[in-house]
Amino acid sequence: MVGRPPPLLIPVETPVHHATGLEERVGIGLVLKMEGASPTGTHKFRAAQAAFREAIRMQAPGVVAASCGSYAVALAWIAERLGMHAQLMLPEYSDALIRDSDLVRVFRRAPTYEDAVSDARAEARRSGFLDVTPHDKVRASIRRAYRDVWMELSAELRRNTDAVVVPVGNGTTLCGIYEAVALDRTVDLPRIYAAGVGGNAIFGELESKRDLAFEALYGVQPLDEAGVRDALAATGGAAVKCHPEAILDARIELQGTEGIDCYLPSAVAVAAALWLAEKGRLSARRKAVVVLTSGNERA
Ligand SMILES: Cc1ncc(COP(=O)(O)O)c(C=O)c1O
Repeated sequence: MVGRPPPLLIPVETPVHHATGLEERVGIGLVLKMEGASPTGTHKFRAAQAAFREAIRMQAPGVVAASCGSYAVALAWIAERLGMHAQLMLPEYSDALIRDSDLVRVFRRAPTYEDAVSDARAEARRSGFLDVTPHDKVRASIRRAYRDVWMELSAELRRNTDAVVVPVGNGTTLCGIYEAVALDRTVDLPRIYAAGVGGNAIFGELESKRDLAFEALYGVQPLDEAGVRDALAATGGAAVKCHPEAILDARIELQGTEGIDCYLPSAVAVAAALWLAEKGRLSARRKAVVVLTSGNERA
């Protein structure tokens, strides 16, 4: 049984939205990579697929993970689909909607995300399930899954990409995209910008108090910090720190001009792109891509 190839999980390919309303307002070329169009509404669906591929490859009967929410939602969805087990450790304040079932068990007893990470590690030792909380090996396979975000963009936009703006918590999404950019010989290297908030070591000090709405973006020691710094330096991009109020405004602006609703951790990339446009750092002719990690067009 060793080496059994993993079954093909559901292919995801998310659409590109041409943000003509925002383009007109700020005078730059702007598209949104709509990661919210995945089956569970965020880019974490790609990560969760990678996690299950790893579990299947290692012949684990299921996965355990700590998550603030979006990753757990995606893991639960895939577990049900594959008929595999998932044990999900959420902080007690998480409002993620996940149903317990024979296959999926949700625990909300950890006071913080960090406590949930310890619980997941202990549970994995007890159950023999694979701990797919993003660290070490699992993180590398998740980064590889995020390469597809760039592959899909590259196929659609060809040589027309000026910059890519990515929300950063751990930085894994950005690093995956950069891995693919660095391998892509068909395009000129776009600048990669990291969008984030204070309280994350990549962006500097937290100025106001920690807000649970931005939980996915904090991280005193982001796991892929070094990789993010390398990507920014290699492409001539930068880290753009956004104030919570600017993020709220960007989200409202996105609703008004494009009819798209997204979570606040995704709106940070819109806020960063608007700031870069204002500073004259994005092209009017070519396209800046905002990776909208969640968000759907309103029906
Ligand atoms: C919606 C959303 N956007 C962005 C991020 C940040 O992704 P990463 O940790 O890969 O930097 C997260 C992480 O939880 C998220 O849930």
